Amino acid sequence: MIKVSPSVLACDLSRLLDEVKSIEAAGADMVHLDVMDGMFVTNISFGLPVIASLRKNTDMFFDVHLMIDRPERYVDRFIEAGADLVTFHYEATDDPESVLDIIHTRGKKAGISVKPGTPVEDIYPFLNKCDLVLVMTVEPGYGGQAFIPESLKKIESLRQEIDKRGLAVDIQVDGGINAETAEMVKNVGANNLVAGSYIFKSSDRKNAIDLIKK
Ligand code: DX5
Ligand code: ZN
Repeated sequence: MIKVSPSVLACDLSRLLDEVKSIEAAGADMVHLDVMDGMFVTNISFGLPVIASLRKNTDMFFDVHLMIDRPERYVDRFIEAGADLVTFHYEATDDPESVLDIIHTRGKKAGISVKPGTPVEDIYPFLNKCDLVLVMTVEPGYGGQAFIPESLKKIESLRQEIDKRGLAVDIQVDGGINAETAEMVKNVGANNLVAGSYIFKSSDRKNAIDLIKK
């Protein structure tokens, strides 16, 4: 089953709760919350207090994408703030396995992400401990960028590896997803699609989500 996780980076952040309710009503499976620290990526977005206050007002599943250096310093606090799934970057830590362990000890889902330039094979040693792998299809840091087609090969290899091992790991993609690129990534095995601009800038968000899923 295909899941859609709209990224609120592209929404009207002054009306964050209403925007989250709108995509929930439009059929989103979860909400994607992009946390950027100005170090791991050059941009700064939002962090703990925003997620914690949103948590008080919605039961939606929180898919938290940490684009921060040394995520081991903060995963506990993002879980306290309300994250249901915490995805961190392979490139941002010296010890991905222990980050996965911290998240699981707290009873939450754990994901590892790779940037476009990182071979997906690098995370294979940790695959058995992942609930999800996020293959970035743009350079992390900004919404509204164009999809990088070279990502398709990575997704395909990852799907083969997951199936070969008989695992139930989700493959998430993030960056430049619209109805056309959604088709391409689903064809090679992605089953969890993040989209920011395409959904939030659409005049019919339900239709945009349906087009990504179909
Ligand atoms: C980029 C973020 C994405 C971003 C996607 O670093 O991780 O989640 O919001 O935006 P679109 O869908 O507009 O490419
Ligand atoms: Zn993201």
